[in-house]
Amino acid sequence: METHPRVVRTNNFIGDAAGFILKQARKAMSERNEFRIALSGGNTPASVYARIAAEARDLPWQLIRFTFGDERCVPPDDPQSNFRMARKNLFVPAAVPEKSIMRMRGEIDPQTAAHEYQAQLDAIATEHGERIYQHDLILLGLGDDGHTASLFPGTAALEEMTRRVIANFVPKLNAWRLTFSFPLINHARQILFLVGASKSPRLIEGVLAGDQQFPAARVNPAAGEVTWMIGE
Ligand code: 6PG
Repeated sequence: METHPRVVRTNNFIGDAAGFILKQARKAMSERNEFRIALSGGNTPASVYARIAAEARDLPWQLIRFTFGDERCVPPDDPQSNFRMARKNLFVPAAVPEKSIMRMRGEIDPQTAAHEYQAQLDAIATEHGERIYQHDLILLGLGDDGHTASLFPGTAALEEMTRRVIANFVPKLNAWRLTFSFPLINHARQILFLVGASKSPRLIEGVLAGDQQFPAARVNPAAGEVTWMIGE
């Protein structure tokens, strides 16, 4: 059964986004004594991560497992690295323990990095008797072309229906990316799209209307809930 996304338009984007994420964290930890969250990259989430680090000093970070929905194929200190952005805004200020962070190794061969990351997720899933690793919450952004994670229009990764983590060559960027596939994304309990006020309202409406030309419109967890947090 496909659930309809919840749309929250707010002029307190950072506060409301951070509040939503912390609420999900506390709920997951009270129910399952862990919180599995996949971070999104790009620019929009940086201020939200910084707010979380500032507000949640009391959080039992050792119960949280951070994964990444996608990563650029660059070293972790590269300005393009999503890991670098998360480390600067969240991991360092909140003193998140190393063992709570699963970094996609953007600095090695993309296929190897994707395979390695998927194997890490699969090992945890198997430990918990899960067929596919189930995230409590996956954060996603929205690109101006309707991409999400690194699932760009017209790229091979859109068609992947088996593997969970793939290397995806993006011609428009002339670059490789590592990304979750739709099967992994659509297995999450909760999805939160973080969309800043600068994003085109027409694009947002098109995605919300389910226009399949936009990869973001194909995020549709069978049993999960989708929330759109849109800055005004
Ligand atoms: C990435 C992101 C990507 C991002 C969108 C929006 O690695 O770039 O995961 O999917 O969320 O491109 O990016 P902005 O937040 O910078 O607009």
